[in-house]
Amino acid sequence: MCGIVGYVGEREALQIILNSLQRIEYRGYDSCGVLVQDSNEMEIHAHKSMKSIAQLKKNLSKSKYSGTVGIGHTRWATHGVPSRRNAHPHFDSDGEIAVVHNGIIENFQELKEGPLCNCIFKSDTDTEVIPHLIHQTLKKSLIKNATLKDAVRECLPHLKGSYALIVAAKGFDGLVVARKDSPLIIGVGDRENFIASDVPAVLDQTNRVIYLEEGDIAVVKKDSIYIENDAAEVKREEILIPWTIEDAEKGGYEHFMLKEIHEEPKAIIDTLRGYLSEDGLNLGLELEVSSILMVACGTSYYSALCGKYIIEHLAKVPVQVELASEFNYSDFVLNNMMVMAITQSGETADTLMALKKAKRFGCKTVAITNVVGSSATRIADDTIYVRAGPEIGVAATKSFIVQLITSYLLGLSLANMPGRELEERIADLKRMPQLAQLVIDGEDANIQKQARYLSEYDNVFFVGRGVNLPIALEGALKLKEISYIHAEGYAAGELKHGPFALLTKDTPVIAILTRDNIYEKTLVNVKEIKARGAPVIAIAETGDDEVEKYVDRVIRVPRTSAIFSPIPNTVALHLLAYWTAKARGCEIDKPRNLAKSVTVE
Ligand code: M6R
Repeated sequence: MCGIVGYVGEREALQIILNSLQRIEYRGYDSCGVLVQDSNEMEIHAHKSMKSIAQLKKNLSKSKYSGTVGIGHTRWATHGVPSRRNAHPHFDSDGEIAVVHNGIIENFQELKEGPLCNCIFKSDTDTEVIPHLIHQTLKKSLIKNATLKDAVRECLPHLKGSYALIVAAKGFDGLVVARKDSPLIIGVGDRENFIASDVPAVLDQTNRVIYLEEGDIAVVKKDSIYIENDAAEVKREEILIPWTIEDAEKGGYEHFMLKEIHEEPKAIIDTLRGYLSEDGLNLGLELEVSSILMVACGTSYYSALCGKYIIEHLAKVPVQVELASEFNYSDFVLNNMMVMAITQSGETADTLMALKKAKRFGCKTVAITNVVGSSATRIADDTIYVRAGPEIGVAATKSFIVQLITSYLLGLSLANMPGRELEERIADLKRMPQLAQLVIDGEDANIQKQARYLSEYDNVFFVGRGVNLPIALEGALKLKEISYIHAEGYAAGELKHGPFALLTKDTPVIAILTRDNIYEKTLVNVKEIKARGAPVIAIAETGDDEVEKYVDRVIRVPRTSAIFSPIPNTVALHLLAYWTAKARGCEIDKPRNLAKSVTVE
């Protein structure tokens, strides 16, 4: 989604702004823009591009602007087509106040036709109402010597919707920022400060970060940060980000996605380390629940679906799973459930809304997220952090695997099983990093071969059963998202109820064939598929020789007890999606039309 950045300090702002924007390119964008306050001319200069930030950098390489205050924006169009005129920053009529904005102003039309009807609008965006409104407020202000911050504060209540915004004004030696339902951080430096919608944008400059909270307005200058909420000054904690910039960069891999798949074993180790010690398993929260509702979107939703099987199997506690976007407008009966929101970014608008709804209904809420200090953690009563580290590729990989790990931890924490059985399960769990690594080390070459084969097709099915049904759904989502092959995930027993009509020699089927209690039944399903002429690639355990009699190709995964099989199976499917997209020459880290964090409903 859109990204915003700002800089106030003693160095030249332009390069810092452009570099910060490049660090959040992964969020996806269709146009970009920067603005610098030229200290020589006391003017503000903006530049916009429909091409890449690299191109904008090139265009500005000979620019003579010299300024130490700047802002920047990457846009992902919501109101108004992608174009230079709609790219940010946007200005008031006198060109003195400039705004970059992430979010949506829902009542922009109303404002345009009402209090701002005499203003000349130069774009089709919702954002442009903000600088006009600030300008008008400043002019009309009854407060003697009203500051830019006062004007921003006065006009924010008129905006309906969500925003993270940075306001620059001609001649002002700082920036005013504000947030509502959209993330915004301040990177704290030495005689300089940075602003961004996401931590990686500032990480090469500082790891000292302040997360602004709902309703915060801040005035950021080179040597001061003033924050207020509800018109009163507030102090916000400075957090030290444990990631290095190297963590957030590609580390020698061609794509972030491949790097992140290779980090899956480490992410599991880090997550387990946080909650498992010699003293046993401790998630750090009270877990007395009779039933759980999990809400999430996309890949996180599939991890929730898998979590249902895992928790119900291990703990016998009933779990319901809802898509956050559906739950928000449904009549779902929330009777005294613990509501868990799973979200890698902690910023997905639908998931945040679901959390808020659960709170309104008096439910105890838990956020399961990867991002320290993200919005989800502020809304929920408790947080369980998955420790995947920064995930940059738009396709979620290592965050999905540690979300699954969290379900095992939850299941075992809730389980009422004899000590010895619990120890065995924990021992199984501790083997997961090793099993994930075995897939990466031992099967990658074969997966690349199968991927080259798969890359020739336009339609693919994924099938699985039980705890591996959500893994089939995840495999299909991952493949379609980055390779643009049409892929559908199904319960293996369901194909005969309709999708069989689509099976031909040109529709390969990836079948997860774990040796579980329904292995024989899944094998029957595979035989039915073969009988319809579709080629089958099995994901099967090492040592399962039976399977080769019935399928065309096999990807091997190490043997484990069935309930833990989603871990090696997921690693294999993530690699399969990656290598298939690579064989098709796709732009893997930034798939078309997608953004890493979906901060609008
Ligand atoms: O940050 P979240 O986990 O809340 O994001 C939810 C989805 O937008 C996300 O999982 C999306 O489906 C991924 N692109 C899938 O790879």
